[in-house]
Amino acid sequence: MPSTPPRVFVTRELPGGSGEGSPIARLRGALGADAVDVWPEFDPPPHEVLLERTEGCTGLLCMINDRIDGAFLDARPGLRAVSQLAVGYDNIDLPACTERGVLVTNTPDVLSDATADMAWALLMAAARRLPQGRDAIEQGRWGQWNPTWQLSSEVTGRTLGILGPGRIAKAMAKRSTGFEMTVLYTGRSEKPDFPGTFVPLEELLERSDFISVHVPLTDETRGICDASFFARMQPHAIFVNTSRGPVVDQPALITALEDGTIAAAGLDVMTPEPLPPDDPLVHAPNIVLSPHVGSATVETRTKMAHLAVDGLLASMRGERVRHLLNPEALEVQTKGRP
Ligand code: DGY
Repeated sequence: MPSTPPRVFVTRELPGGSGEGSPIARLRGALGADAVDVWPEFDPPPHEVLLERTEGCTGLLCMINDRIDGAFLDARPGLRAVSQLAVGYDNIDLPACTERGVLVTNTPDVLSDATADMAWALLMAAARRLPQGRDAIEQGRWGQWNPTWQLSSEVTGRTLGILGPGRIAKAMAKRSTGFEMTVLYTGRSEKPDFPGTFVPLEELLERSDFISVHVPLTDETRGICDASFFARMQPHAIFVNTSRGPVVDQPALITALEDGTIAAAGLDVMTPEPLPPDDPLVHAPNIVLSPHVGSATVETRTKMAHLAVDGLLASMRGERVRHLLNPEALEVQTKGRP
């Protein structure tokens, strides 16, 4: 039986331009220009358009806001490879892909530094009250220099608590050495190479001056930062999240900020995304928000696009696949669905 010719759908224009050697040029060069269909709009293709445009596709290069579930896969049985331009992949039903022999790849490592930089930016902005200072200037409330005005929290020498000791968390912890901080971390288990001290969650919450969240979104982590989590934190402590919005019980966070249970928060991720301008979170006190841009530097996003193309091509060619999230799917491809 002749094999299906490779054909891919890319759900957004890729960073890195379109010139020679760019991620999209590499994809087109490898598969043929006609075999690569790129969604040209800024917003994601609506689900029915995703279905339509993937007809006859063997590969898909997708983003965190494209939903890839069992029903979609059943409608596109020719699909063999899904490459996610992100490290997080909670938009993809991984077991459903594995069951159907669809290889799934992501783009870890290359974004760890940029995302850790953003977590630090939020931490520093919240600690040193940058938005409040700017508001004062903008609103004409900047009076004469005064030794008691606009006081904020010291960062140097304090304790950083990290939830989820993965690659981004490690980059976060590494950056804290310049600030001579004590690093505590918690997670499923102790990691011998993590630059910090493993403690139970309760101890982390009670001892940390800053808490930075770096867990993937799973059934286990959804809503993990809830009212009891914030209640255990110190009243001067600052909460930072650059992972996924739904790990936080957002109404509980707003209440914790309003009633002074914690001092401040810096969030790059929230629920929903995009956050409507009239959402109560926007108006919570002492909050610094950024619009899910942790990995959004030119350099990092270009590296992510190259890695996503590498993953897609290797999966489609049957080569050794780096960052393959479901190696079990290879067996299903060889032996068929159990
Ligand atoms: C990721 O990679 O999961 C980020 O959230 C998007 O950069």
